[in-house]
Amino acid sequence: MKTALITGATVNTGLGVAQKFASEGWNVVITSRREEALSEAIEKIQRVNENVQVLGYPLELVLPDNNVNEDGIAGIFADLDEKGLHVDCLVLNAANLGIRQQIFVNPLSDFVNVINTNVVANYCLVEHAARRMIGKHDGSIVFVNSNTAYRAIPDRIAYSTSKSAQLGMMRALALDLGKYNIRVNAVLPGMIKTDRWENNYNNCRAALSNYTPLQDIAEFADIADAVWYFAAHARNTTGAELTVDGGNMIQLYPIIPE
Ligand SMILES: NC(=O)c1ccc[n+]([C@@H]2O[C@H](COP(=O)([O-])OP(=O)(O)OC[C@H]3O[C@@H](n4cnc5c(N)ncnc54)[C@H](OP(=O)(O)O)[C@@H]3O)[C@@H](O)[C@H]2O)c1
Repeated sequence: MKTALITGATVNTGLGVAQKFASEGWNVVITSRREEALSEAIEKIQRVNENVQVLGYPLELVLPDNNVNEDGIAGIFADLDEKGLHVDCLVLNAANLGIRQQIFVNPLSDFVNVINTNVVANYCLVEHAARRMIGKHDGSIVFVNSNTAYRAIPDRIAYSTSKSAQLGMMRALALDLGKYNIRVNAVLPGMIKTDRWENNYNNCRAALSNYTPLQDIAEFADIADAVWYFAAHARNTTGAELTVDGGNMIQLYPIIPE
């Protein structure tokens, strides 16, 4: 039985990804900074997938001193080794969304936290997972990235920067890990139907059909399906991007109804 480790997977997209893998008969390991949320999510996944193992680990990717929590990450992989669980697919979903971080206003430490969470901590996770995948000459690593890697949105400089950096890292990892048959790919969501979207402060929701050719944005299952494609089907694909944004990125400006 295969195992997927998904970071930040107690709610929203991460939970959707974990549910997808469990429904396909994979064991799932999820992380969160919140212990209570972990128990709830584990229960939710396990209730409908009795035959798989569902494990959760509390994990702060970045510590209060703004350094990556290397020991915490190492500890999770050591514990999985002890339990005899091998991570076949690593899904890097957790992210500091860096919402409303403004140049001239926010301190540099806010920028650093976004980069350390979204880029450096993910590198650390990949290092631990890939070291073990090498032994099996098989593995899949999937970044849940964003179309903001290419197109900017207001007050998200650190976030956009981190998502562009993730893509550079994804390609470089794909190159260096290809010889071990470890595939590294990225899913690029546009907007996703989270609570945040429902209450979007720019009121994008009201203009949804003007923003995307498909006149709709992603649900969690749409992103989970794309991650699953890379993990389970894309045998000969590495260093690739799969955009799941209703076509948002290819449309130059909002359609204003006449
Ligand atoms: N929502 C969108 O519209 C959208 C669009 C494009 C791309 N994405 C990407 O899709 C992924 C999931 O987004 P989402 O909106 O579904 O997620 P979300 O609701 O923001 O959840 C992401 C998870 O990341 C974890 N996290 C945040 N900061 C962290 C930190 N400093 N250390 C450790 N964990 C941290 C949180 O887990 P805990 O609080 O449980 O620790 C959180 O549940 C992200 O990579 C995001 O960039 C989202």
